[in-house]
Parts: sequence; structure tokens; C-alpha cells
Amino acid sequence: MTQTQHPVGHPNQRLRRLRQSDALRSMVADTQLNKSHLVCPIFVTEINSQRTPIASLPGVERIPLAELAAEALRIHALGLKSVLLFPVVDPAKKTTDGCEAYNPNGLIQQAIAVVRKAAPELIVFADVALDPFTSHGHDGVLSADGRILNDETVDALVKMSITLAAAGVHFVAPSDMMDGRIGAIRSGLDAAQQLDVGILAYSAKYASAFYGPFREAVGSGARGLDKKTYQLNYANVREALLEAQYDEAEGADMLMVKPGLCYLDILCRIRATSNKPLVMYHVSGEYAMLKAAVEKDWLDEKPAVLETLTSMRRAGADLIVTYYAQWAAKHLFP
Ligand code: PBG
Repeated sequence: MTQTQHPVGHPNQRLRRLRQSDALRSMVADTQLNKSHLVCPIFVTEINSQRTPIASLPGVERIPLAELAAEALRIHALGLKSVLLFPVVDPAKKTTDGCEAYNPNGLIQQAIAVVRKAAPELIVFADVALDPFTSHGHDGVLSADGRILNDETVDALVKMSITLAAAGVHFVAPSDMMDGRIGAIRSGLDAAQQLDVGILAYSAKYASAFYGPFREAVGSGARGLDKKTYQLNYANVREALLEAQYDEAEGADMLMVKPGLCYLDILCRIRATSNKPLVMYHVSGEYAMLKAAVEKDWLDEKPAVLETLTSMRRAGADLIVTYYAQWAAKHLFP
């Protein structure tokens, strides 16, 4: 039998000592992941009266208003703390300016009230953008010559945010990427005496190929719809840092980076410069990729999901928006 007499690698260091058991590994882990880190998206529909599946998001359904209270209770009972609401709007209500977005009795305004009543402890986030309400699927007001009008859009987002606040939302989450919208929304909410309603700013939202299944889910335009004049160029880092800096200065309470896995470096960079809570959006295309590989039996779902979500926490995310939230609550943290 041979015995090593000399130290292996670095003198007197054997890093494998701390990897010997589950108990030890978990005691010295840098990063924790649990249910309270997960935000559960909900698609609320006014088109169907039944829960309807979404082909490219297996396991996720569009929920009619009449089923929403039960859904909120189920999410709360699973031990999740928060939801993020998206509307699936009747196509007959869509216009070029998306004015249904600020109907005080619109779908999402009603949905907020339903969730608040059914599960008062759930924290309710609502997406703020015009794309579910526009006939063209863009997040902004479209001019006759095909431009997205920044300041006209911001005015609409302020009006929308005030109606969401009146309905009882805890945080509005602007996902449109217009310039100046965080400051305008903060001023609008303050003027409406909604001082306790917060803003989760989608600060660094990139023009991404990974939003396809979401657009199918809400019926908000073609998978390849080009949003490059307002969403960020994925070749850029510094621009994301500026967006985060401005959003914070304009009054954002939390900042988001979106999508997730391809943008861990961006989250990590913002973590180094901001002391606000940071959120990562594990987007629809990322969820769909995992589900597709699992369906083909090419990946094991539990370890793949755990590794994916833990990597986002490790990069610096306080919260993760993921379509895996309910699944994770059931299968990873039972
Ligand atoms: C739209 C919006 C999108 C998502 C969230 N809000 C899509 C888009 O910008 O086209 C994508 C979320 C996902 O893919 O899961 N304002």
C-alpha cells in the first residue's frame, strides 16, 4: 500500500474535507434557496372560463377570474409568499394605444382585488406594460410612422399604475423599458396618496429570444417581435448598470434583471453596485428548455431546477420569478 507523504496541492489544504457529507456540505454552503425566494407568476384570462394549458409552458395554465381565488389559496398553502400577475386580454379590447391597461375595472385590476381578498398574506406584484393590451404587441404607444412613443407610453403606465394601486397591489412592476418611467410612476403614486405601494423595476430587461412562450401565453404578438428600440442589447453591460442606477435614483424599491441564466454576470455586476433587493426573472423560454429536456428524459428535473435556481441566488438574486415556483414548493421544499 502506498501512502502519500507530502501535502497534496496547496500545503496543508485538503478542500475535499468539507465535502464529505450532505450535512457538512449544507453547513458550509454560501447560498441558500427556499420557498420565500420564489415569486410565482400567474396568467389571468378573461377569454376562457376554464383553466387552459399553455403548449410551450407545460404545467402552467391560464386562470380565469372565477378560479383565481382558489389558485391564490393554493399558492399560499404551498408556502409561497408572492405572486406576479399578467393579464390575458380579450383581443376585442386591444387598441394601438393599449388604453384598456388603465381601465379601473380591467382584468388585472379585478384580479388584484380577488387575490388580496382570498389570500391577504400573499404579496402581490403586477406587471406594468402595454403589450397585453395593444393590437400590435409592443410595450408602448405606436405612432403612425411605426415608432414607439416614449413619453406618451410613460403617461399611460402612470395611469395604469394608479389603477393597480387603487385595486390593492403591493408592487407595480414596469417591464416596458421606456426612459423615465420609474420616476414618473413614483410621482404619480405619491400624488395619488399611494405612498406604501412599491416599484419593482425591470431595470435590465434585454431584447431576448427567450420570451417566446410568454408571448404565446398572453397572446401578445409574434415570438420574434422586435423590441430592440427599447429593450437592452445583450452585447451590453454598462448600459444595464446605468439603467439600474437611474431606476434606483428615480425611486425603485427593487431592481430586476431579465432573463436569468444568460445574464448572471449582469446580476452579479449590479449586486456589486446596488444595495437594493435584486430580482432575477427565470423567463418562459428558460423554463420551456428545461421542461423539454426533462420530457425527453435527457435531464433529471429536480437536480437541474435546483442547480438553476441556486445559481441565480449565488449570482446575487434575493428573489427569483419562476414558472417553477409551485413545482419547486411541492417537489424541492415539501
Ligand atoms: C412584456 C413582458 C414580457 C415578459 C414579461 N413582461 C415579454 C416581452 O417583453 O415581450 C416575458 C416573461 C417571460 O418570458 O417569461 N412587457
